Amino acid sequence: MGYTYEEYKVTADWLLANTEHRPLIAIICGSGLGGLAEILKDQKVFSYSDIPNFPQSTVHGHAGRLVFGTLKGKSCVCMQGRFHLYEGYPIWKRQTKSAGKSANKLLTLSRSVEFSAEHLVTFPIRIFRLLGVETAIVTNAAGGLNENYKVGDIMLIKDHLNMPGFAGNNPLVGPNDERFGLRFPCMSDAYDRDLRKLAKTVARDLGYSDFLKEGVYCVLGGPSFETIAECNMLKRLGADAVGMSTVHEVIVARHCGMRVFGLSLITNKAVMDYNSESKANHEEVLQTGRERASQLEEMISRLVEGIEPN
Ligand code: 6GU
Repeated sequence: MGYTYEEYKVTADWLLANTEHRPLIAIICGSGLGGLAEILKDQKVFSYSDIPNFPQSTVHGHAGRLVFGTLKGKSCVCMQGRFHLYEGYPIWKRQTKSAGKSANKLLTLSRSVEFSAEHLVTFPIRIFRLLGVETAIVTNAAGGLNENYKVGDIMLIKDHLNMPGFAGNNPLVGPNDERFGLRFPCMSDAYDRDLRKLAKTVARDLGYSDFLKEGVYCVLGGPSFETIAECNMLKRLGADAVGMSTVHEVIVARHCGMRVFGLSLITNKAVMDYNSESKANHEEVLQTGRERASQLEEMISRLVEGIEPN
């Protein structure tokens, strides 16, 4: 079960009533990249816990705030802290009454509705759409699978592998609401080519070409990192980087007609070799984020500057 259109609308209308910002661009900050939100000017900040219906972030390194403001004179909204599949769903229960017209009142049971993790993870995207957002910039921290990638590289996402989707865990599972988009949305053009081109130009101008890459991002459910065999498998399947986020948000953003730009900060190299002593860990992920933060901020600012309204 997912949220109803009306529930999304309650949240969006509440935000519209509580800020004068009318963002056309949304930025989703990955692990350790929350500093991106700090560069917005004229901020209006909401804690997720103060926004009606909004899920709560449970991960260390994610602040749990929605930051409205301007970047290079453009109105933006920044998600400082996102939601992940691995945060699980049973904690996110709500109660509804049975809609039954049952003649026998004794049979009218109260129904407990559990949101799937995918619906929670992607809730903010539809809110952004209802606020008028046209472009989503999605960032994450990822493990590098491609042997040419180094820690600290920035990978423009050109495509994705949705591994949970292969098992039926797609955020669009459930009844389709045409007010958001089509039942069967196309994903072959998910990552906007013009925005990637713009990002490459921006990176070149900034002197970042040495650590700029472009590749395929693969999402897994997490929260455990991959085994060596899994990393080798993913690499053979065509993945350049692996992580636990982004893809669900992108699917929902594309479904409701947003343009998408995605990038991964390669925070560690996925372990591919049985002789290796290195181990993936969250602290390393956060540390690499801190080290590259200012360059990422500069790149995203320039990108935002170059994004034209639809
Ligand atoms: Cl190595 N794996 C996954 N699944 N997510 C990550 C990562 C690795 N590094 C950063 N995020």
